[in-house]
Amino acid sequence: MRTKQEWKQIEQNLLSEFSERFPTVVALAKYLGIPQGTIRDAIYRGDLSGKLVVKKDIANKNNDGFSFEESGGGNEATIKYKNAEPLTPKEVLELAEIDTSIWKVESHKINMWQVGAKSEEKNLKWEDGAISGYVKNDGKINKTYLYQIDIKLTRIKRIAVQAIFQPLNFSILTESRNVDFDKTGIKILFIADPHFGFRRTPDGMTPIHSRTFINSLLTVADFVKPNITIWNGDVLDLADFGHFDTKPELLNNTQMAGVELGWVLGQFRQLSKRQIVIEGNHEKRLEKAIIKNLAAGYQLKPIHDLGGHPLMSVPRFLGLESLDTEWIGDYPNGSIKIGKAKFQHGNVVRKGSSKTVSAMINDITSDRFFGHIHRFEMAQKYIEDEGRSVWVGSPGCACDKIQVPGADSSHNWQLGAFLIQMSKESGNVENVEHISSSVNGPTFFRGLAFQHRSYLREFRESLPGEYADWFGSD
Ligand SMILES: [Fe+2]
Ligand SMILES: [Fe+2]
Repeated sequence: MRTKQEWKQIEQNLLSEFSERFPTVVALAKYLGIPQGTIRDAIYRGDLSGKLVVKKDIANKNNDGFSFEESGGGNEATIKYKNAEPLTPKEVLELAEIDTSIWKVESHKINMWQVGAKSEEKNLKWEDGAISGYVKNDGKINKTYLYQIDIKLTRIKRIAVQAIFQPLNFSILTESRNVDFDKTGIKILFIADPHFGFRRTPDGMTPIHSRTFINSLLTVADFVKPNITIWNGDVLDLADFGHFDTKPELLNNTQMAGVELGWVLGQFRQLSKRQIVIEGNHEKRLEKAIIKNLAAGYQLKPIHDLGGHPLMSVPRFLGLESLDTEWIGDYPNGSIKIGKAKFQHGNVVRKGSSKTVSAMINDITSDRFFGHIHRFEMAQKYIEDEGRSVWVGSPGCACDKIQVPGADSSHNWQLGAFLIQMSKESGNVENVEHISSSVNGPTFFRGLAFQHRSYLREFRESLPGEYADWFGSD
């Protein structure tokens, strides 16, 4: 068996013998049928003439032949080979000694040109410091070919390129931000189920409507200036007129509830372009009580206003006409359509969160906003024929979910209102923002938190002294 040293000697001999005939390692390896690496090892480790020959040969090819250029932060490179001798891309990689464990070929391009060169015959000698001999030029042009190979390489394991961070300075385009929102759409503030009324407690007359949440909604209204504020029913609790066996502490407060609601409606009216009150089942209590107990008084109107609302009716009681506020009666059917959206108090409560909206979403073909369920539920459905989504939702309520009659923790009621954005041109509902609040606040809207505060002081100050005393103080 040959020793390692002997093998080396054989390789060296082979290289000495063959390297003149096979100028590239690739060609030699192919001829000998041995790995190129073996030849390279022999060339670069051993002291052999082959090393010089082959190296010289590569060096010759490098003369105007090879170029290697890195780019992309050292992650990309290009090898260019240009010579009269055709080489395959693989041979180019070999000759340029590209480590294929580091680089991989991304792409390559091969070009070939025909070039002309003058045909010359030389016979020159150097003797005694002088050149003698001849150079014959027969004027003929010999045609030959020039080959070019461009190989693009990428690093297999990319090296991290240091990013250069520079501070970004943006100028604020204030002019384009000065949009007059009133002209771009209709904003509807949608408030449901405040149940204005009182519970007589040791602390005095405790409201069952949420003064703090409603005060937050006044802040929102002042901020957005709604085109329309809609009160979606059950604005009054009217416990005095209910057919349930109402507890005494909830009775005899309708006058108080009306006075406070009237003031609140006046505040919102000043902040909105239009205001609408829709009848709910609790307002319906008044009409039902009249029919049951005093049928002769049903629909009775004062003689100077036969076209107006009946003497004993919610809109007349609240003075909606003097508040320039519209009344939509005829509960449960009464509704108003604004744009493509329908607003209605609602008369169905499904058990469980989101169940009411879930039951409605399959059938609806236009936007529906309702209340009555005292829960926040919302869904959107895409109507393919119209190329738009419709919204269905209940915002929650504006009553005090602890004090309001019928309240029970199992009811899962929430405080909430909607700000609905509608296109003036198409009447499409384009967005619905939920204004939400926990019982003790704050109220959240557009990322702002409004700490809960009652409007009681401002309300009392607007009343004559004897009426202000009804409401106590915070
Ligand atoms: Fe309600
Ligand atoms: Fe209701």
